[in-house]
Amino acid sequence: MNSKIKKIIDKKNKNKIVCLTAYSKNIAEIIDNHTDIILVGDSVGSVVYNYNTTRKVDLKMMIEHTKSVRMGTKKSLLAIDLPYNTYRNKSEALKNSKKALKETRCDAVKIEGGVRVSNIVSHLVKNKIPVLGHIGITPQTVKGKFKSKGKTEKDKRKLIRDAQVLEEAGAFGIVLECIYSDVSKKISNLIKIPTIGIGASVNCDGQVLVTDDILGLTNSKAKFVKKYANIRKTINSAVHKFKREVRFKKYPSKKFSY
Ligand code: KIV
Repeated sequence: MNSKIKKIIDKKNKNKIVCLTAYSKNIAEIIDNHTDIILVGDSVGSVVYNYNTTRKVDLKMMIEHTKSVRMGTKKSLLAIDLPYNTYRNKSEALKNSKKALKETRCDAVKIEGGVRVSNIVSHLVKNKIPVLGHIGITPQTVKGKFKSKGKTEKDKRKLIRDAQVLEEAGAFGIVLECIYSDVSKKISNLIKIPTIGIGASVNCDGQVLVTDDILGLTNSKAKFVKKYANIRKTINSAVHKFKREVRFKKYPSKKFSY
């Protein structure tokens, strides 16, 4: 087993796993000092390209962003989201995962779904592709509004089954997205691989958020998003100063000229 994967699994019941998204080298370089996992999420579609669905993201796009992130990632495990329609069957999933790992030198792929994709996960794992699962809200297949999962008994049973099946298939961890806290607690206690929550309470073995959201670059209104900075304000003030200095011929001064 890849040592980075082992390190993540070993954190279960010891240290909480810190995971953030990155789409470019500069952000990866900064967050890599703090994260255990950097995820090149297909959220790049909405965050960077303003798409209204992650379904529009393709493999080429994911690979280019992951190559950039790879350059800034030294210590964290680097995972890439396999985008929509790139893992519809075993051979397609394996071909695209191999391509992604080879071209980006990332450590793992993430795919969405539980029981529905379990045969694909086990095929990838048998072929030495480390897989991070993703259940609960799965944006690639969501219809209509995003609604948290695990309210009804039927829903709870489905989520627990999804998690167990992914563990049996060989996933090294599972992202739980927007799942009620009692269910994420149950799942995290039941399975031996770590759960990484996004809107799934403190009961998970780790947390993941979109970096642009925590920096205040996006205008996300999701309940689980906590803004730890207001980077828009910082950029705004820097650019305002630059504009004034250009207008008043203060920039470039001699110091910045040849
Ligand atoms: O696409 C993404 O960024 C994700 C995480 C937020 C879990 O899937």
